[in-house]
Amino acid sequence: MSHVIIDINTQKDIITARQNARDMAKDMGFKLADQTRLATAISELTRNVIQYAVKGQCRISDASDDTYMRVKVAVEDHRPGIPDIEKAMTYGYSTGRGLGAGLPGSKSLVHEFHIESKPGYTKVTVSMKKKR
Ligand SMILES: Nc1ncnc2c1ncn2[C@@H]1O[C@H](COP(=O)(O)OP(=O)(O)O)[C@@H](O)[C@H]1O
Ligand SMILES: [Mg+2]
Repeated sequence: MSHVIIDINTQKDIITARQNARDMAKDMGFKLADQTRLATAISELTRNVIQYAVKGQCRISDASDDTYMRVKVAVEDHRPGIPDIEKAMTYGYSTGRGLGAGLPGSKSLVHEFHIESKPGYTKVTVSMKKKR
């Protein structure tokens, strides 16, 4: 099992995270559409980190098991946290000047999506998987 950790501090780190996720997916044999969907979700999640939490981390790993090839990306930060996750997951809801499509859009792009948050902490985990 291999992994890479990218610190998210600047716009440039969004590109790096996006590219690394794409590369890992490609190396694991995911088709282009899945590589792109994952990369797009990672862009949104890391953009949220910069926008709402200033900084955070992105961990991209091979989380395959006996049944599935799986590329997993966890994006986390240690800033305000999301008070109402259900609201945040609704299309059009934004406390910034965004479209409010980042979280729900990301969820719809990937095969697995999990979000957890508490005051001072947010972690969003997404993955693409395919049968071996
Ligand atoms: N990492 C985060 N930390 C704190 N709040 C967040 C984070 N990510 C998202 N949010 C909250 O969830 C809302 C919805 O996020 P999103 O769907 O990406 O839409 P947008 O970024 O356009 O507002 C944001 O407006 C913000 O209030
Ligand atoms: Mg957003």
